[in-house]
Amino acid sequence: MTKIIVFTDIHFCVEHLDHEINPVTRLEDGLRHALKYNADADHIIITGDLTHKGGIGSYELLKQSLEKFDVSFELMIGNHDHRENFLSVFPETPVSENGHVQRIIDTDTHRLILLDTLDGPPYDYPLSHRGMLCEKRLAWLDEQLASAGNLPVVIFMHHHPHDVGFRAMDTIQLVNSDEFYAVLARHKNVQHISCGHVHRTISGSHRGIPFSVFKSTVGQMPMIFNSMDFHAETNEPPAYGIINLGMHGVTVHTEDYGLTDLDVFL
Ligand SMILES: [Fe+2]
Ligand SMILES: [Fe+2]
Repeated sequence: MTKIIVFTDIHFCVEHLDHEINPVTRLEDGLRHALKYNADADHIIITGDLTHKGGIGSYELLKQSLEKFDVSFELMIGNHDHRENFLSVFPETPVSENGHVQRIIDTDTHRLILLDTLDGPPYDYPLSHRGMLCEKRLAWLDEQLASAGNLPVVIFMHHHPHDVGFRAMDTIQLVNSDEFYAVLARHKNVQHISCGHVHRTISGSHRGIPFSVFKSTVGQMPMIFNSMDFHAETNEPPAYGIINLGMHGVTVHTEDYGLTDLDVFL
């Protein structure tokens, strides 16, 4: 079995350190929690919106936090990130041949495909808040699915690739969803899709493929489906995801860390 810890939407920002929700404290508390109770995790993936404004100072702040933990991290980017600034602070991050922050990880039972859905450069906001897979990224995805052999695939991507019911966020989902699902349909080997971006726990299936979305470590999406307020957030407990991959499939858990003292159960 392969155990994957997933954090998403950590939104580091040097200007938010005095806010009620401190992104640094939230992530470090979450990582301590995840590593304490899931010391057997094989991978820790952070599925984008690593920063809030994409500034180099915020990436350096993240680097300082991650260096406190004696584990490696698979870092992905989202719409609040800046690819070049990210890579200047994390130059060791693998990129695909066209410079996108995407790669594969093969486990005993699955191929993990980590996709870069950031629509830029140019970083043309608010348009760049939507997700995009350009021709080059779709071709790369096609190749990774084709070469997976007998391994079923789990895709990690920041943007959700279909409507999830939140009106505002659905306008900035992956915009070329049809092209994305057409590539997946050619291979029929994707077993699960894990996303972030919405700041809410959501699961289901779309076009026959199961998906899950995890909550953020900072503000969460209010459960008001028809709101068009992109900035609305609630101060609910933060969460991380735990994905177990086995011979026969995928199991997905979420943990709202900080709600319960788990030590009393040890
Ligand atoms: Fe986010
Ligand atoms: Fe996002």
